[in-house]
Amino acid sequence: MIGSFFKRAALLTILGVASAGPLVLFAQGADAAKQPYQTGRIDSGTPNSTTVVKDSKGAVVSYGNSSITYNAPPTSLIGLGRALYMQNCASCHGTEANGVPATGSSGSYPALVGLGPATVDFWITSGRMPAADPRAVQAMRHVQKLTDSQALAISSWVNSLAPSYPYIPTPNLATANVSNGAALFALNCAACHTIEGDGDALASNTYAPSLRNIPAVQVVEAIRTGPANMPRFTGNLSDSQVNDIVKYVTTEIQHPNNPGGLGLGGLGPVAEGFIGLALGVGGLALFGFWVGERDE
Ligand code: HEC
Ligand code: HEC
Repeated sequence: MIGSFFKRAALLTILGVASAGPLVLFAQGADAAKQPYQTGRIDSGTPNSTTVVKDSKGAVVSYGNSSITYNAPPTSLIGLGRALYMQNCASCHGTEANGVPATGSSGSYPALVGLGPATVDFWITSGRMPAADPRAVQAMRHVQKLTDSQALAISSWVNSLAPSYPYIPTPNLATANVSNGAALFALNCAACHTIEGDGDALASNTYAPSLRNIPAVQVVEAIRTGPANMPRFTGNLSDSQVNDIVKYVTTEIQHPNNPGGLGLGGLGPVAEGFIGLALGVGGLALFGFWVGERDE
C-alpha cells in the first residue's frame, strides 16, 4: 500500500518534471532578454565528494572519489596565468576580471571572479574564449586559441582572486557503466541535445550543440558548470552518474555502433526511412530499366 503510494508519487514527479521541461526552457529564454548574457554562475559549489585533500595551509587542493577527481590548478602557474590573462582576456573582462573593461562600465562583460576553475578552463579549452564575436547571442565552440596548459594557468590566476569550485575534473572512465549512462543521458540531456547527441535549436536563437568530438574532461565541466543556457547539474547527479554519462557520450555517441549497417549521420527514423526508400526503390527502378532494355 505505502510502497505503491511512493511508486505513484515518484511516477508523478517524473511526469511533472518531464512536462515542466519546455516551461523551464521558455523561462530561460525570457530571462535571456533581460540580461546581456546568459551567464553568471558564480561558484557552482562542490559536488558530492568522499575525499577532500588539503594543503598545509588548509586550502583544498583536490576532492572527489573513485569516479571523478577534481584538482585545483597548480598555484605555481598563477604568475604565468596573470600574464596570459592580461594579454588575452583583460580587454573585455577587465584587468581585475570583474567584467569591467578599461573603457566600459559595470556589467559590460561577465565577471570571472568567483567562477570555479572548471568554468574558466571549459570556456578556454572549448575555444569559446577569447571571444571571436563579443556581441554574438551565444559564444560558439571554436578551434582552441590557447593550449590546455595556458588554460590551466589562467584558471589558476582567476582562482587566486577568489578561490571557488568546481575544480578541474579528471573522470575515471574505466569504472563507468555505459548503459546506465545511456539511461541518464536520455533523462537529463536528450531533451536539448537529442537522443543521438546531434544538438538542436532552443529558444531565443540559441542552440544546444552537437556532442560529437568533445573531450571527456569538457563533458564533465559542461555538466558541472552549465555553460550559458545549459542547466548546471550539481547535487542531482552524483559523480558516479556523471562519469557514466561521460562514458556514454564519449563512446556510444562519438563512435556510434550502428546496428544493421550505415549510421546515415543519425538523422532519425523518418529521414533514414526516406533514404532507405530512395535507395531501395531507386535501385529497383534502375534494375527494372536494365531488365527492360534486355527485353528488346
Ligand atoms: C572580445 C571580448 C572577450 C575576450 C577577449 C574574452 N572574453 Fe570571455 N566572454 C566574453 C563574452 C561576450 C562572454 C559572454 C558569452 C556568452 O554568454 O555567450 C564571455 C564569457 C566568458 C566566460 C563565461 C562566464 C560565465 O559566467 O559563465 C568565461 C569563463 C570567460 N568568458 C573567460 C574568458 C577568458 C579566460 C578569456 C581570455 C582567454 C576571455 N574570456 C576573453 C567576451 C570576451
Ligand atoms: C536545457 C537544455 C540543455 C540540457 C538539458 C543539457 N544541455 Fe548541454 N548544452 C546546452 C547548451 C545551450 C549548450 C551550449 C552552451 C554555450 O553556448 O556555451 C550546451 C553545451 C554542452 C556541452 C559543450 C559542447 C561544446 O560544443 O563545447 C556539452 C559537452 C554538453 N552540453 C553536455 C550535456 C550533457 C551531458 C547533458 C546532460 C547531463 C546536457 N548537456 C544537458 C543545453 C543543454
